[in-house]
Amino acid sequence: MTEIKRTAAITGVHAWAPRNVVTNSRLEQLMDTTDEWITARTGIKERRWMEEEGMATSDLAVHAVEGLLKKTGTNPLEVELLICCTATPDMAFPATANVITDKLGMNQTAGFDLSAACSGFLFGLNTAARYIESGMYQKVIVVGADKMTSIIDLSDRSTAIIFGDGAGAVLLEPSTDGLGVRDGIMRSDGIGRTYLCQKAGGSLNPASLDTVNRKEHYIHQEGKTVFKFAVTNMAGVAQEIMERNGLSADDVQWLVPHQANKRIIDATRERTALPEDKVMVNIQRYGNTTNASIPLCLHEWEPQLKKGDNLILAAFGGGFTWGSLYVRWAFDGAKALNLADVQPGQLNLIP
Ligand code: UT7
Repeated sequence: MTEIKRTAAITGVHAWAPRNVVTNSRLEQLMDTTDEWITARTGIKERRWMEEEGMATSDLAVHAVEGLLKKTGTNPLEVELLICCTATPDMAFPATANVITDKLGMNQTAGFDLSAACSGFLFGLNTAARYIESGMYQKVIVVGADKMTSIIDLSDRSTAIIFGDGAGAVLLEPSTDGLGVRDGIMRSDGIGRTYLCQKAGGSLNPASLDTVNRKEHYIHQEGKTVFKFAVTNMAGVAQEIMERNGLSADDVQWLVPHQANKRIIDATRERTALPEDKVMVNIQRYGNTTNASIPLCLHEWEPQLKKGDNLILAAFGGGFTWGSLYVRWAFDGAKALNLADVQPGQLNLIP
């Protein structure tokens, strides 16, 4: 690889999830399912659902971005670009990024949404890095946010149990020490577009009484097919990015997988030959939060992350979309959070 002179370093991370915890036993009351089935098939024990009226994806994102600005001491007016990665925008248009910047008084910030389903945050991070590397921008925020409960069909037990609501954001700034996004692979294959989708509401099937009656505004997933593609491609691309950067399992401090299913995470870990204690897993507490899952992990593990750590991020999502990023972490999390000594397992949990 040619040497990169200016890289995009992650200089801050923050995440947020609603306080409302929905356990598997609560789902047992709502549909024909069991804690045993959900735990064995997915690894999920609970998720957060935003149940207050009138709250949208932008509200989740605002919590994450506001916390990030505060934590990093960033003047909102200095942020030049905000990319919102989401599968559940507030509206079809305008972009949710515009709603977020308006709610936070960031009227100097350009914004757009990026749609790549569960791989969106990774695609957004890779895209944002190019704006920094080119010298165009000095401060870019990437936020992954989804209110998955807005498209969950409670009568479809195979998908309703998986998803949760949340948001996570990172700040990117230039580095001349090779810190930050070092390499990225993004892939998509439209063959997957019918297996995981929201059938109606777009130009193909505009909203009508019929589309509502057929429940086509909810998430549709053919789980088994998606599972097979996810296992092969997410694990494959993580291995590929390690190989092309000459990284062995010993060189990598953390694998940060999209939290879709514990069994998919395990397959990716096995393929990269990393031990379990190097893999960020919080699916048991948040479920699949789509675009928020990777930044939720980074936020939670922030106290343990050290400057120079090598991270491999990997995701798979609807479309199909998948990809992997190699990131060199840019700061000591414990120091940034003013924590004296962080023991493994002492994490930055969301209340
Ligand atoms: O994040 C983006 C990408 N998404 C993914 O990566 C998700 C990939 N897919 C999956 O994670 C899994 O396919 C699921 C978790 C969605 C489903 O697990 P599965 O092992 O593929 O189960 P299945 O859909 O094949 O269903 C097996 C059985 C069926 O019963 P029969 O036909 O064998 O009698 C289902 O009706 O389990 C039944 N079932 C349930 N039982 C209890 C399906 N959902 C449930 C449920 N509770 N919630």
